[in-house]
Amino acid sequence: MRIFDIITKKKHGNVLTDAEIEYMINKFVGGEIADYQMAAMLMAIWFEGMNDHELSVLTQVMAKSGDTIDLSAIQGKKVDKHSTGGVGDKTTLVIVPIVAACGGKVAKMSGRGLGHTGGTIDKMEAIPGMRTALTQKEFFAVVNKIGAAVIGQTGNLAPADKKIYALRDVTATVDSIPLIASSIMSKKLAAGSDCILLDVKTGSGAFMKTLDDSIELAQKMVAIGEHAGRKMAAVITDMDVPLGHAVGNSLEIIEVIDTLRGNGPEDLTEICLQLAANMLYLVDKGSLAECRIMAEKSIADGSALEKFIEMVAAQGGDTSVLKNTDKFAKAPYSKEVLADKTGYITKMDAEKCGVASVVLGAGREIKDAPIDFSAGIIIKKKYGQYVRKEESLATLYTSQKNTLEQAENMYEEAIQIGNEKPPAIPLIFARIEKDKVEKL
Ligand code: URA
Repeated sequence: MRIFDIITKKKHGNVLTDAEIEYMINKFVGGEIADYQMAAMLMAIWFEGMNDHELSVLTQVMAKSGDTIDLSAIQGKKVDKHSTGGVGDKTTLVIVPIVAACGGKVAKMSGRGLGHTGGTIDKMEAIPGMRTALTQKEFFAVVNKIGAAVIGQTGNLAPADKKIYALRDVTATVDSIPLIASSIMSKKLAAGSDCILLDVKTGSGAFMKTLDDSIELAQKMVAIGEHAGRKMAAVITDMDVPLGHAVGNSLEIIEVIDTLRGNGPEDLTEICLQLAANMLYLVDKGSLAECRIMAEKSIADGSALEKFIEMVAAQGGDTSVLKNTDKFAKAPYSKEVLADKTGYITKMDAEKCGVASVVLGAGREIKDAPIDFSAGIIIKKKYGQYVRKEESLATLYTSQKNTLEQAENMYEEAIQIGNEKPPAIPLIFARIEKDKVEKL
């Protein structure tokens, strides 16, 4: 077998055999296929795509290219959730305790912030003392005891994806549905849960800017997971507008607590209830409607908040800041962004809002840079709301005073104010299961 022939075959739009896909990935990870050859192959896939069978085989070979986590030491069905990333997306930290409070098991590995999007692990580390790197034994013990744990990615999970992603990043091949689907699902399959819920974001702050592309990506990922024997569902949710009011790590943790107390923003609460209901449904806790009621009840009776506190304590975090969120360190500098005219907010570019929070210090401009946990944005007026000239649209927080002006300019660019009230944007556009797309 020769990689030259496999590239030629895909370049002409032909279907690769299982053996060719295995050869290509394993030899690439082993260093026998050069980066420039894999780059040519990725571009061929970008243009010619892959059929469902090729994509399943590719993903499974990538998933098996490194460690795979065996979660059988945790009793019961395990459910995972993946979000394709967004601005102000703190849903994991709300839904994981809800699911655990309702009897589900969540052994979750999460990521750090990427570009303009925040990451769950960075948010968790805003809680003083919180350990996001547990040994496998500790991880399993916390999930068995509490029902949930969230840690950073450990071990050598899907190294094929790591190598391929680095090439995609510099060869203009990130935006390919089969390559995104195999990248995400290889890591999810390696992480070992029986059931996986995908939250595929759509809109200005998301990877997928159109609904059709988001549905296609979700369908591909659901098919890959089902083919690998996992129970799958996906929801397509809005990321045209940041989620909730808080963007930035400790600000988002405070919003998580408010939401678990039943006082969260409407959009965040609704999305979290729907995601949690879908996760409970996947682990057979009832119909979707019954699972939704269970999720609502866990917020109303305080059991979800209690689970969150238990999980934080089990991972070494200081729970006193959760009980009294005034104890979170405050950013020394802040600035109001004022409306330049009266009218309705007709656009909020989520990506630009995310970049403004990175400028303030809430995310990383360069890999491994430290994060300012207290930095970020509290959004006071959202899409569709009426504002008066000079009224505050948002408050910016930072520890670096010299970032305020740039972040303010960026935030102003993200917002458009017009005379007409804009149409409402749905929070959830569609729900996808095996061979089924339900537009909502
Ligand atoms: N997230 C991933 O893990 N991979 C992609 O290709 C895109 C988003």
